[in-house]
Order: sequence, then structure tokens, then C-alpha cells
Amino acid sequence: MKKQFVLFIAAIFTFAMVSSAYAAKKAECPQPRKTKSAPASTAKQDKTAKANKANGKKIYHKTAKPMACKMCHGDKKDPGGLGAGVGKLGAAFKSPVAPRNFKCKATMKKISAGQMFWIIKNGSKGTGMVAHKKTLKDKEIWDVIKYIREDLK
Ligand code: HEC
Repeated sequence: MKKQFVLFIAAIFTFAMVSSAYAAKKAECPQPRKTKSAPASTAKQDKTAKANKANGKKIYHKTAKPMACKMCHGDKKDPGGLGAGVGKLGAAFKSPVAPRNFKCKATMKKISAGQMFWIIKNGSKGTGMVAHKKTLKDKEIWDVIKYIREDLK
């Protein structure tokens, strides 16, 4: 009984913290960015021409594992809008950096399609950005990159 009560309080506390961080958060632009660079050969790659944007949209909003990209990178109703880096879960990731704001031109103009591919595949160590190499095929990564670069800017 006692243990359940403690768990209950802990759950409320966590929820309050996450939702207040979310409510207080605004989209940042330009964003401070210390993300590791992809090897030059990967950074130069761009396979979005033949990628499937509709499939990329599905991955961003629904099927990506462990969770949909929108949970951190933002959806329509989140502060700043779709892709602005203030998703419901992203706001809780204060440490050490916020999810990328794909709508921020000043930041995104320095990020090539190949750079995005590298980080989506391998993750950005020490941040909430996890590696997707076990859950997304290379082709699916290009699909989601096409969706982000064409529809979320
Ligand atoms: C749990 C939260 C979370 C989820 C889920 C998530 N990201 Fe991220 N993402 C982040 C954070 C935090 C960063 C910033 C990392 C950094 O600054 O190094 C980031 C950065 C990025 C970047 C920028 C790379 C760069 O070089 O600046 C891309 C592209 C990206 N994410 C794509 C995606 C895609 C596509 C998905 C879904 C398949 C996804 N992310 C899911 C938190 C998340």
C-alpha cells in the first residue's frame, strides 16, 4: 500500500515536471549545435531524389522506434509548430541540448542531407537523439530526410 502511494506521487511529480518544461519551452533559432560531423564521404551523399516522402511522413509521425520523431522534433500543435524541436518529449530533454529545430533556416542551412543521414543512423551520443540503425533501413532514413527537408522547413 505504502509503496503504491510513493509510486503514485512519483508519477504525478514526473508528469508535472515534463508538462511544465513543455509549456515553458519555445522554439529556438538559431540553435546552439555541437553535433558531431559525419565523415566527408557521407556528408556529401544525398539519396533523397528517389526517396519516398509519404513513407518518410509515416516514419516521422508514427512508425519510428523507439518512438516517433515528432515526440521530440515536434508536431503541428507543439510550440513553434511541426518540426520546430519542441515535441512533448523533446521538451523534457533539456540535457544537454534540445532536439533540432528543422524549421530554423540559420541552423539547417549548415546541415546537409548526408549529415542528417549519419546522425539518424548512428545517433548523437549523450543526447536524446538515439541511433536508428537497427530499426530503420537506409532507404527509410532517406525517406524521412526527404520529408523533413521538403515539408518541415
Ligand atoms: C527522444 C527524443 C528524440 C527522438 C525520438 C528523435 N530525435 Fe532527433 N534529435 C534529438 C536531439 C536531442 C537532437 C540534438 C542532438 C545534438 O544536438 O547533437 C536531435 C537531432 C536530430 C538531427 C540533427 C542532426 C545534426 O547534425 O544536427 C536530425 C536530422 C534528427 N534528430 C532526426 C530525427 C529523426 C528522423 C527522428 C525519428 C526517426 C528523430 N530525430 C527522433 C532528439 C530526438
